[in-house]
Amino acid sequence: MIKEAIEREKRGEKGGLSTTLLGNLFSKGCDERTMTVMATDLIFGGVEQTAHAAAFTLYLLANNQHQQNILFQELSNDKDGQNYLRAVVKETMRLYPPAIGNIRKLGVPLTLGEYTIEPNTTYVLAHQTMSQNRQYVDNPHLFKPERWVRNNEKEDIHSFLTLPFGWGPRMCVGRRFTEMEVFSIVSTMVSRFKIGWSGPPIGIKSEIVIFPEGPLRFSFNPR
Ligand code: HEM
Repeated sequence: MIKEAIEREKRGEKGGLSTTLLGNLFSKGCDERTMTVMATDLIFGGVEQTAHAAAFTLYLLANNQHQQNILFQELSNDKDGQNYLRAVVKETMRLYPPAIGNIRKLGVPLTLGEYTIEPNTTYVLAHQTMSQNRQYVDNPHLFKPERWVRNNEKEDIHSFLTLPFGWGPRMCVGRRFTEMEVFSIVSTMVSRFKIGWSGPPIGIKSEIVIFPEGPLRFSFNPR
């Protein structure tokens, strides 16, 4: 599909890329491979991962009614500037990080504490392995948004425990966009419906991205 769009642009046909981000890259001489990678990232990130993040958040709220009620109260009162909503989404991404990890290959060796990172070797910072390690977080399999709320219950967790969008100059460019979308989906759904779940626990499939497997058995009862 992307290849066809690039070909259309080269032929100067209508329906090419001229008014799009890719069209812009093309007109500035960007090579085909980079354009294809960018477009794939946007499709995977923009559509798929955001939908998965929203589905996992609603799933955890459906199965944790106490937390769903706290969120509903917060959204109704709108006193706390959506603190709890942010904590709910952060905690969901700790348990179900939509991307499996951050991947790096260095050009030069690097010493990190007791480890030497070799050049030309692919390293994966595996999100689930890190963010569900009981060495770094208490009751790692428990859905507990309170961990992230700035009050007495906030736990002393290293800020790099959960990095679902990566970190540094190559971190996800779509982070704010995704957060805006997920906050908006979750707050609208929870404000309007009492969300339930009828069925076995959700299955997950892990490829480059982590996504729900099988039907999403939600129930939505108007409030
Ligand atoms: C739940 C949603 C998303 C997650 C979990 C996610 C996660 C990630 C991760 C882990 C990386 C690699 C970061 C690194 O290596 O340090 C990345 C890169 C990237 N993401 Fe996302 N992403 C999401 C949504 C989006 C959206 C909505 C867009 C675009 C609108 C997007 C565009 C990109 C691009 C272009 C890169 C490559 C950045 C670069 O290499 O400089 N992502 N994302």
